[in-house]
Amino acid sequence: MDLILFGPPGAGKGTQAQFLVETYGVPQVSTGDMLRAAVKAGTPLGVKAQEIMARGGLVSDDIVLGIVAERLAQDDCSSGFVLDGFPRTIPQADALDGILKQAGRAIDHVVSLEVDSEEIVKRLSGRRSCPSCGKGYHVVFDAPVKADVCDVCGTGLVQRADDQEDTVRNRLLVYEQQTAPLKEYYQSKQILCSIPGIGPIAEIQQRIAAALEK
Ligand code: AP5
Repeated sequence: MDLILFGPPGAGKGTQAQFLVETYGVPQVSTGDMLRAAVKAGTPLGVKAQEIMARGGLVSDDIVLGIVAERLAQDDCSSGFVLDGFPRTIPQADALDGILKQAGRAIDHVVSLEVDSEEIVKRLSGRRSCPSCGKGYHVVFDAPVKADVCDVCGTGLVQRADDQEDTVRNRLLVYEQQTAPLKEYYQSKQILCSIPGIGPIAEIQQRIAAALEK
């Protein structure tokens, strides 16, 4: 299953990707995670991306396409993947189609999580993650058992630099201008499925599973 999890920042793509990975046994391919790893490692690519990510802009298509093409060519993506945070522009979507076509593949489903802006600001300001194992949390909606400590590995949780309110609002603007038009792009290919993204996390999992079973 070649699937795109689509939606604005904070819609729950990373959260629901975990469920899809466990249910369908395919890897999550998150461009945000890959770019943050490059920033942390201080690679030339990470140095280029850092300032753009900090203000909530989009990293250039050629940088992102390079890392995605390399990732999708790895063995664990051969029977499917869940793309999270990619594509974000029409040129990225066109390039993805080209990469998959060369391998005789095509995107099967685009699941779009629909969440309004004020809910997103609440979600992102409360988001925390484990710098060691990567598990995500929310201080209210998905809290760890012990405050600020990862349930899985006991490491102290951290907040993302781009989750400050001003940056979140800029990310939402960038989403509306450059990424939201992709809904029409995939609607015209009849592979877009819109899911209300507000409600308990488990309920949204059920909505996605039901939509994919149809
Ligand atoms: P990226 O990491 O992709 O960020 P994003 O798309 O902005 O998405 P988020 O990770 O913020 O949100 P999410 O939808 O995964 O939500 P989550 O599940 O965590 O990108 C970061 C940056 O990298 C970009 O700004 C850009 O600069 C660059 N970049 C990345 N990809 C790029 C590309 N393709 N092209 C160019 N540049 C690129 O949930 C959020 C919070 O809400 C969590 O705390 C969670 O616990 C909570 N939550 C989840 N579901 C629910 C629920 N149902 N109810 C209540 N709370 C919930």
